[in-house]
Amino acid sequence: MKKFSVVIAGGGSTYTPGIVMMLLDNLDRFPLRKLKLYDNDGARQAVLGEALDIVMKEKAPDIEYSFTTDPEEAFTDVDFCFAHIRTGKYEMREKDEKIPLKHGVVGQETCGPGGIAYGMRSIGDMVEMIDLMEKYSPDCWMLNYSNPAAIVAEACRVLRPNSKVLNICDMPVGTLRRISYIIGKEPSDLEVRYFGLNHFGWWTSIKDKEGNEYLPQIRDYVAENGYLTQKEVDTQHTDASWQDTHKKAKDLLAVDPRFLPNTYLKYYLYPDYVVEHSNPEFTRANEVIAGREKTVFSTARTIVERGTAEGCEFEMGAHATFVVDLARAIAFNTHERMLLIVENNGAIANFDDDAMVEVPCIVGSNGPEPLSQGKIPAFQRALMYQQVTVEKLVVEAYIEGSYQKLWQALTLSKTVPSAQVAKEILDDLIEANRGYWPELN
Ligand code: NAD
Ligand code: LMR
Repeated sequence: MKKFSVVIAGGGSTYTPGIVMMLLDNLDRFPLRKLKLYDNDGARQAVLGEALDIVMKEKAPDIEYSFTTDPEEAFTDVDFCFAHIRTGKYEMREKDEKIPLKHGVVGQETCGPGGIAYGMRSIGDMVEMIDLMEKYSPDCWMLNYSNPAAIVAEACRVLRPNSKVLNICDMPVGTLRRISYIIGKEPSDLEVRYFGLNHFGWWTSIKDKEGNEYLPQIRDYVAENGYLTQKEVDTQHTDASWQDTHKKAKDLLAVDPRFLPNTYLKYYLYPDYVVEHSNPEFTRANEVIAGREKTVFSTARTIVERGTAEGCEFEMGAHATFVVDLARAIAFNTHERMLLIVENNGAIANFDDDAMVEVPCIVGSNGPEPLSQGKIPAFQRALMYQQVTVEKLVVEAYIEGSYQKLWQALTLSKTVPSAQVAKEILDDLIEANRGYWPELN
């Protein structure tokens, strides 16, 4: 079987060790000849990079492994770039979450004003990275799961329309794990229909390979329990705040019991509830810093101190096998069915062609082919149109340096009550994002 060279961009990410462990666990399906980490923060990456050096020597000495901050070294001779960068790191995530909350508005990394702020920071870095990839490895594919994926995907569509970039999200993957557990199946047993935007969508059908429909059964369960399951099957979304989110799905379902909702819809359908249940002094960024970041980096330091990973292993990011599935689909033309963020072009029949939507696609060597999802109801269509317009306005504001358009984007967000509040939040975000955002006029 052909062997591949992969660079993980955002090598210092808390997800990197989990992805590496998952890659090592999948070498029979996706063999590697080279694995590199790339980050623009050398000190942060080195902690994980050195620990993973020990892991790689112990578990897969035949794979050439390195970590670097040099783009030429990182992007030369690579077949796939797995990208999970966070422009501004947790320091800025905290501001994305806390500034809107100060104004009584949802503070979240991808939804509402926080997502808009994060998007404005990420577009430049993402485009620069795509250019570096194309310069040094023109045939390379970027599998991007950096957030805010909806805005990043729209920016790619507008600014780099011909680049080999696929945008994907782990939330539907995690929820599908829960759904399959609820009906006693494996995710791979199921074929779904789904429509929406990233962090903004609905499952309309969950069938097994024989064509049996499980949606009514799952709906009965979710109406009572949300997506909370007895056993923790979605290892990615387990913290206390996530348990609340899984539970809240029952109230999302109540709004339209025909379809199963994406959990992120809570920020748009119940923003008042979210604000009431947020602690403006301790947001999700703080939970991650005190939890995942601390655990991952202290494990890395212990491995380096001991000089071995024996007895102190990184946890495998089992949920992240979707990245390998996607890479395999391209590398081996597997025609796997996966949810991706793609240009609509008729997949949702009564929605704009140029909207970046999240729908099931068949993925092969030439990339994704979106599957037709038919027409969608007025309620979802109107919500999606409002939100996709927010995302488009953000990208236009970035390109044109337009204060007006960014103010409109914030005003239009369903999470923001008025143009006045939008302006107050925007002015605070501009101050906090100096040096990250383009100058706005
Ligand atoms: P993190 O802050 O731990 O890691 C991000 C890394 O990216 C940092 O080391 C940072 O230095 C680096 N970075 C920032 N800008 C860069 C650039 N221009 N070039 C190279 N490196 C750069 O963040 P995290 O919580 O581990 O999340 C990483 C990303 O993955 C975020 O965008 C997050 O939203 C996204 N994410 C992915 C998944 C998934 O399942 N794949 C799930 C949740 C979040
Ligand atoms: C994370 O930090 O894990 C996120 O990007 C998603 C979440 O769990 O808030």
